[in-house]
Amino acid sequence: MGRVTAFAVLIGCLAFVSATNLNQGRDNPYDLSNVVYSTNGITATATYHLGKLQAANETVIPKLFLNITYDNPQRVRIRITDAQNTRFEVPYDFTNYTIQGNVGLYNVTVSDNPMGIQVVRQSDNRVIFFLDPSLWFSYDDQDILFTSNYGYGINVLGLGERITSFIIPQGTYTLWARDRASPLDDGQSQDANMYSSQPFYMIIDEATGQAFGGLLYNANAMSATIGPQSLTFRTTGGIIDMWLFIGPTPEQVIFQYHQLIGPPVEIPYWSLGWHQSRYGYVNVSMLQQVFDNYTNYQLPLDALWNDIDYMSAYEDFMFDPVTYPLSNMTQLVDALLATGKNYIPIVDAGIAQNISDPFYVNGTSSGVWIQNPYTQNAACVGQVWPGNATFIDWLNPNAKNYWVSALNTFQQTVSFSGIWLDMNEVSNFVSGCVGHSPTLINSTTMPWTPGQDLNTNALDVAATHQNGVTEYNMHSLYGYLESKTAAQYFIQKQTRPFIISRSTFPGHGKWASKWLGDNYSQWSFMEFSIIGIFNFGMFGIPMIGADICGFLGNTNLELCSRWTQLGTMYPFSRNHNDVNSVPQEPWAFGPLLVETNNVSIRNKYMLQLYIYTHMMKISSEGGQLFKPAYWEYPSDMNLLYNATSSFMLGKALIVHPCLWYGISGSTSFFPDDMWYNLYNGEYVFLDYENSAYLDMPWPGLINIHVAQGFIIPIVDNYMAAMSLRDTRNSNISLIIVQGPGVEAIGTVIFDDGSTYGNMANGNYLEVEYQFFSHNSTFDYLTLQQLQSGYTRATGEWPYISTLIFYGCTAAPEAVYKLSGGMVPTFIPANVYWSAEDMICKIWLK
Ligand code: NOJ
Repeated sequence: MGRVTAFAVLIGCLAFVSATNLNQGRDNPYDLSNVVYSTNGITATATYHLGKLQAANETVIPKLFLNITYDNPQRVRIRITDAQNTRFEVPYDFTNYTIQGNVGLYNVTVSDNPMGIQVVRQSDNRVIFFLDPSLWFSYDDQDILFTSNYGYGINVLGLGERITSFIIPQGTYTLWARDRASPLDDGQSQDANMYSSQPFYMIIDEATGQAFGGLLYNANAMSATIGPQSLTFRTTGGIIDMWLFIGPTPEQVIFQYHQLIGPPVEIPYWSLGWHQSRYGYVNVSMLQQVFDNYTNYQLPLDALWNDIDYMSAYEDFMFDPVTYPLSNMTQLVDALLATGKNYIPIVDAGIAQNISDPFYVNGTSSGVWIQNPYTQNAACVGQVWPGNATFIDWLNPNAKNYWVSALNTFQQTVSFSGIWLDMNEVSNFVSGCVGHSPTLINSTTMPWTPGQDLNTNALDVAATHQNGVTEYNMHSLYGYLESKTAAQYFIQKQTRPFIISRSTFPGHGKWASKWLGDNYSQWSFMEFSIIGIFNFGMFGIPMIGADICGFLGNTNLELCSRWTQLGTMYPFSRNHNDVNSVPQEPWAFGPLLVETNNVSIRNKYMLQLYIYTHMMKISSEGGQLFKPAYWEYPSDMNLLYNATSSFMLGKALIVHPCLWYGISGSTSFFPDDMWYNLYNGEYVFLDYENSAYLDMPWPGLINIHVAQGFIIPIVDNYMAAMSLRDTRNSNISLIIVQGPGVEAIGTVIFDDGSTYGNMANGNYLEVEYQFFSHNSTFDYLTLQQLQSGYTRATGEWPYISTLIFYGCTAAPEAVYKLSGGMVPTFIPANVYWSAEDMICKIWLK
């Protein structure tokens, strides 16, 4: 039996076999010719070697075009396409994309017979991609397979979306957008594919801890197989469009990746606050009651969310006249807005197929529906909450107008501040288009979901989009394109898009944000949430969080309290719950949870300027707010292997969450640095393993420590504010953590908090604080305005009320202000020094 017959049998029974098996005894069947080297890269033709057999049913592509471009010093792109025919490609959205030519910190070589490609990082001679000519490579119409053979041990991260450990274990994983709460609800183990497709990975060299990354820009159903020293991609269509990011630190990989996909969208100031949601606020009085309770318990709130309960017959944009009468709704939303809070309704992907629903009627007359492949001029009808529903073809030129005007009409009904896009995998309660058994275009099964294929709970993969493009190619792009289009609604109004979507694809973050979908009220899901946030930060979606206290199943007092402590440190902090679960609002379990909510939300408020400043910077440069400590301290691989025991917010703060029940303290790892308790300045004495025993207070505050060398701005009125809007009028304090011989630095960005494009247009204020010892008599704190594009409204920040020094070895005596001519003017101030705690405070008068 030749290789081809064996291959056909493999496809028939289990498509995603391990790459190692496939690679056995086979080499690359393509040879290179016409190899042209230029300053921009290498081009060549790859021809299927005639001597290699192929099966009758195999649609081998005989001639390929290889195009390697030296994009910039840190990035190289490898594109392999059909040389004779066009193939489906992801609608391209990388507006920053440029080719700078041969200035790389890498070397690229190719071999011609058989084809091989190698990319080596110059700094340490490590292979960061190697299409090994001795390994199997396939480029069939619906089966493209290639392996990168590194030749050394690797830790692989990324490759979403799934519930996973941070370092993905060796094995085969599917990427295909799928509406699954978590594989656990299929009775599967973790690691199965979920809502998004994010074919980006970061690899950490097991021996050296150095990092590099890769993006396979392909939306088709695919698998990634992680071997001890190799990574194999196998995709059911599209092209090979592989970007490599050479690192060599994890943080650099992230910036290099975000530079390609574009930094994330600016988010509104208020959205970094506290959000309350639940599936099951069955009428407007319940929603009103939640709002009232927040006021009665004196708890801050920034947004109240409305699930599908508001809808009439589960139809998007339509309030139920009985349970959600419009007059009550508008009254409630007005009251929310008047108190600095916001209203966020859900919008599902499926539009009810109801001829008296104006949104269905409009969509039908603009012809925007994904089409039924079996009936001419008919939509592919799926079934979701409203019953039969139709779905938007985002390639259709009318789709943008349709969606933006639907949102405009909705806005005229109710003043929403953001939008929640659910069910956009796109999810379908049945498989295929109603009335037809789906066509199985490709025999591919999903390895972690036996019995499921690409049509399962999806639209028929034969369904068609504009120009005959099939759902087979478009499926995993739905959530991304829907969000990108919805963003236009906000951008046209010059407002920042606040869009929380469930499904995503590379590039999504430029337009919208995400939450991690349905999780369980179980302790393990707190840890999974940390990994999810790390991953989506890497994927360029930093505004991300999990349902706090858990969605499915019943939470309890301790779990919900610990989760609230952790969840208020998520960039996106929302308590959300399923209709069948016990209530979990802050007052649901008595005063202890109320207290935990109160101090935790206020703790987040205290850090608002620090967090907002980071998010604004990230929106112009890329990067992550909430990240593994390993990113900042890449020489300590313990931090990688224990990645979830802590996380960092920016460079200065490390957070140790409590992820276990029944404990009140634990031994925690710290990176090698000098750390001070954020709240009281207490110095952390680390043992030789860089660990310290931490009390895990509850009720009370989550453990946060600040590293020496940083200045943290603190909002003074955090205990009084009832929404983040109130913090805009607060004075601020600076916590200055100097450490012996180390200068301290901090930055604050402030703007109107809502207009789209403030960073790009320079419409913000940026102040940099630096603290340093001038001589034995004076220490200096300098304030430098780096950008002055925002004029503050009356009463708005920033007036510094207090300077707080940690690690302070002597009492301050007097405070002077130095103006332009460096003439010191005495400023009256109260000072305090505790020799024992090494804390100084200066209250400026
Ligand atoms: C599924 C979403 O993931 C969940 O958050 C929501 O509550 C339900 N759909 C109902 O809309």
